[in-house]
Formats: sequence, structure tokens, C-alpha cells
Amino acid sequence: MRIVTIIGARPQFIKAAPVSRAIRRCNEEILVHTGQHYDENMSEIFFHELDIPLPDYNLAIGSGSHGWQTGHMLIAIEDILLKSKPDAVLVYGDTNSTLAGALAASKLLIPLVHVEAGLRSFNKAMPEEQNRILTDHVSDMLLCPTQTAVANLAKEGIRQGVYNTGDVMYDAVLYNKDIARTKSDVLARLNLQSGGYILATVHRAENTDNKERLSAIIEAFNRCGERIVFPVHPRTLKYISEYGLALSGNIMVIEPVGYLDMLMLESNAAKIVTDSGGVQKEAYFLGIPCITLRRQTEWVETVSAGWNIIADSDERIILNAIRDFNPSSDRPPYFGDGHAAQKIAEILDGVAV
Ligand code: UD1
Ligand code: UDP
Repeated sequence: MRIVTIIGARPQFIKAAPVSRAIRRCNEEILVHTGQHYDENMSEIFFHELDIPLPDYNLAIGSGSHGWQTGHMLIAIEDILLKSKPDAVLVYGDTNSTLAGALAASKLLIPLVHVEAGLRSFNKAMPEEQNRILTDHVSDMLLCPTQTAVANLAKEGIRQGVYNTGDVMYDAVLYNKDIARTKSDVLARLNLQSGGYILATVHRAENTDNKERLSAIIEAFNRCGERIVFPVHPRTLKYISEYGLALSGNIMVIEPVGYLDMLMLESNAAKIVTDSGGVQKEAYFLGIPCITLRRQTEWVETVSAGWNIIADSDERIILNAIRDFNPSSDRPPYFGDGHAAQKIAEILDGVAV
């Protein structure tokens, strides 16, 4: 079977690594990078570190407004699909690259496979929620990471072609955890002690594009009295500078790091403060308490299990959680058994049901 895979943003490179490895055993994969993320430390580094095959096409679309970015991707992807005539198109998650790939495939009546289907925040103001709802509703195979995602789809009347495969990000963590321990020197490089810092990431539009919310988050970091290690997404850096926000000396601002460094920073953090979807899950997989800088999360299991607390951008809740949040409960295996990629390959090959 010939599969065209569409990726373009940081978390999609990480998700594609285990899946590409599994599907290439029995299929031909044509990898298309839309160029949504393009800085070396937002894109190329992951291909090297995770042994992802180099893209067959790099569309180099780059940054722009939602319509501009998605539209340019759609035009370029359609062209590739017409030329390569695949048996299926594979998309991941909920970015503009996902939606462009989904629309291109669906209009050409090429079977569409959505990895990480069924996630919902129930907040349609999020670009990601729009992207994932639209993608799910034109997908032929909906590969869900959790039972909650399967139930979300059922509530929208989608029952055909739905599978709970488990989460491919869990596969990636299991595969790379020990590799990170041997290959990453990030703790020594940054002079960090295990358990001696809080790891923070912020990039969600609802936080960065709103001065009041980003100011409250940075103020909480400034006042928490802990060392904060803060690998800053380029979007966030731009807004911190535009709003003129001052960061105090306890915050260690660093460039975005590669995945192996990130796994080391996560697994040795005392706590993680984030608005990232992927980072919330990784905190759960690694048993690190997570404080989420959003009003809601798609990853509700991490909250119900007691390992994730929803702090919004409320300075007081963030500060209290940094000081007091100390979960010790079990972490049930809501995200599968670490073999999601293999299950996906088997479903694509028609072996599994
Ligand atoms: C995108 C996804 C988001 C995902 C995130 C992962 C959409 C709508 N959003 O958000 O769901 O969680 O990726 O990180 O698809 N920039 C650079 N260099 C880069 C990439 C981006 O400088 O390599 C800057 C540009 O100023 C750009 C801004 O970051 O305008 C935002 O990038 P964009 O890809 O539009 O959205 P993200 O915030 O990265
Ligand atoms: N990540 C990384 N380096 C960083 C920040 C994040 O490798 O500096 C990884 C992180 O471990 C996770 C993924 O990127 O696997 C999450 O991506 P991001 O937070 O950009 O997007 P989201 O998951 O919110 O869509």
C-alpha cells in the first residue's frame, strides 16, 4: 500500500517517528513536510534524533494567518496527491497541516487516516478544536489514543472506522527514555540537579496572543521562588518582547530543545507547568506532577487520575499548585500499552480489527 503522510509541526515529527518505523515494514510511505515549523530546533533536530526518514517533499510554506497557511498547504498537497496517487493519506493531531492534508485527501476521495482522532476540548475558539473536528468528520479511519476519544466520536455519530490504538506519544517516550539518558547532557549543560527545578512550556494561542493571560503566567513564574527552566517557543518569545514583559532571575530562558533533552528535562523536573498537549501526557507517562495553563484539557484522564491540575492563567492557582500539588496516586494505563504504532500498522494492513 502507498501511504502519503503529512506532517509539519513539532509534535507531529515526534508522533510520526514510531508510526513511520512500523508502517514502512510493509508499505511504501511518502513523507510530506508542510514547512509549518522550520527553525532548526523546531524541525530538523527531530529528524536526526528520532531517525525519521527525510521528507520526500518539503513544501516550505512557513508562517502566516490561518487561512493563508492552510490554503497554501492545501494547494501544494493536492498537487502531490494527484501525482503520487496514494492508497491512503495519514494525518496527525490538530494543526493547520492536519486540516490541509485532510481536506486535500477528502476532496480527492482518497481514504483518510487520522492518528489522534476524537480529542475534544469543547472550546471551538481554539484553532486546534476546529482542525480536529473537521478532520475527524472527513476521516475514513479514526485512530484514537484513548477510550474517551472513542466515546467523543460516538457522541458525534462517528462509529465506523474507529479504533482505540493507544497513544503513539507513549510509544515514543518508552522507546526514547533510555536513549535520552545516555545521549542527553542537558542537565550538566544547564547545571541542573534532578528535582531542583520546575519545567515550563507555553505556546498556546489563547495564552500568547492575550497580554493579560501571558502577563499573569509570567508573573506567577517570577514570584514562585523556584528555579524555572523555560524552553521558549518562538511564538511566545515574540509576544514576551512585544508586551514588554520582564522575566526575573529565577527563570532560565532557553531555546526550544530537542526531544531527548526534553525527555531528560521532563523526567528530572520537580513539576511541569505547561499549556502543551504533548507535554501534559509526557508528565503523566513519566510520573511528574503537571500544572496546566488552560481552562480545560483534552487529556481528561491525566486530571481524573490526579496527576494534572487545571490552573488556567490564574496567578494564585498556579502559585499554590507549584507550592502544594503533590499527587501520589496510581497512573492507570489509559494511553495503551506502548504498542500503538504497531497496532496502527496492523489496522492499515487489514490484519487487525
Ligand atoms: C502550532 C499548532 C499548535 C501546536 C503547535 C506545536 C496550529 C493552528 N497550531 O502552533 O496546535 O500545538 O504548533 O508547537 O496549527 N515560528 C517560528 N519558527 C518556527 C515555527 C513558528 O519562528 O519554526 C513562529 C512564527 O512567528 C509563527 C509562530 O511561531 O507565526 C506560530 O507558528 P504556527 O505554526 O503558526 O503556530 P504554533 O503556535 O507553532
Ligand atoms: N518538545 C520538545 N522540545 C521543546 C518543547 C517541547 O522536544 O522545547 C516536545 C515535547 O516533549 C512533546 C512535543 O514537543 O513531545 C509537544 O509539542 P508542543 O508542545 O509544541 O505541541 P502540542 O503537543 O501542544 O501540540
